[in-house]
Amino acid sequence: MGISLNMRKMSYLTESTTYQELVRKGEAFFKRVCEDAEIGFTDLPENLVYVDRCDEALNSLPKGVETLYVLGIGGSALGTSMLINALPDSCSRRVVVVDNVDSDTIERLLGQMNPEKSVLNVISKSGSTVEALSLFSVFFARLDEELGRKEAFRRVVVTTDAEKGTLRQLAEEENLISLSVPGNVGGRFSVLTPVGLFPAMFAGIDVVPLLLGAKREKREGVSRAVGGAVVDYLFQEQARNIKVLFPYCDRLKTFGDWYLQLFAESLGKLKNRRGMVVRSGQTGVVAVGVTDQHSQLQLYKDGPGDKSFFFFTVKNQPDVSVPPMFNQYLSFQVLEGKTFAQLMEAEAEGTMQSLERNSLPVFQYELDNADSETLGALIFMFEMQTAITGYMMNINPFDQPGVEDGKQIARKLLEGKGK
Ligand code: PA5
Repeated sequence: MGISLNMRKMSYLTESTTYQELVRKGEAFFKRVCEDAEIGFTDLPENLVYVDRCDEALNSLPKGVETLYVLGIGGSALGTSMLINALPDSCSRRVVVVDNVDSDTIERLLGQMNPEKSVLNVISKSGSTVEALSLFSVFFARLDEELGRKEAFRRVVVTTDAEKGTLRQLAEEENLISLSVPGNVGGRFSVLTPVGLFPAMFAGIDVVPLLLGAKREKREGVSRAVGGAVVDYLFQEQARNIKVLFPYCDRLKTFGDWYLQLFAESLGKLKNRRGMVVRSGQTGVVAVGVTDQHSQLQLYKDGPGDKSFFFFTVKNQPDVSVPPMFNQYLSFQVLEGKTFAQLMEAEAEGTMQSLERNSLPVFQYELDNADSETLGALIFMFEMQTAITGYMMNINPFDQPGVEDGKQIARKLLEGKGK
């Protein structure tokens, strides 16, 4: 496993006194975040208890089940999507993440479902999110109809708060298989709890390297998390309000989606801790290289200079060559003797240099591999970076009043109390 953060042409920024001073502050925040008992995500890399609990839950399932339906939204779903999509070769069983109440999708999925071979994992930390509850109701009704109540309940795993909420109550009353989300870990920081671990383990992913990568990053990656936080903080100060994530790896697209939610919900805040209106945060965009070079790059290079760019490149790629099929044509000749990894590398470097030519800030995360351990390290690094950025901005990175507000309005509308 290896991750290095290449600051490229940004040394003028990283060598400045302001940057150095902020790094010292950031290091102190790193320590503070790790020591704060109210913040639980920092303890997860060392915690193997959840792996054992998930194992027990897996062993309690009926034999022969093939598909797990994850029913949840936001932080209860994006981590699983990231793990499943990033590590497809480790997946021997199917995990379907249903994170929208789109009746078109629901009808299609129910039509394809084999109840006998299916398991439902309803995930909601609060236990009251209407999206999760409605999805659970409709998928459970299908199992119930086909298999009867007793067999349907055997195929349910509830992941929610250990003590409170409707789902916890239901799990206890019906004696369902259940897993806990620690009270001090918020939804978007919860991928290394049963929220992400159980679906990953159901699929067949070995989660120990994932936790090991996170643990190593906690020990050795302080400078990367702090450096990233200082950069994000400074760019917000300069009104560089758009943060573009550019993974040059298809498998990391949903990693981009996960990270985007992490910083969007954590750092997008109306008020700071002193109650002053700050309207903080950056808008995130995920662009996949090289595909999106041909859809978004023109805007990034020549459009408004309000963006910062974070490239993710992977060194060790499978050895697939471009075969010499049509070399009588000039356009094919440039590909002679090349591998797809070389092509990808040239395209990434070309794109970075082309943005730099227009004086745009480019940072490069160079990953040795896109494996489970590296993913664990990336997860921990960006969770830490997000928390530190929040501290620097003096906002609370762990709440989401805007999301809660929308949830309450929607609930009132459903109750017929709103407009
Ligand atoms: O990160 C968060 O806190 C949110 O995105 C939540 O995960 C999301 O709103 C779902 O909430 P819950 O897990 O309570 O159903």
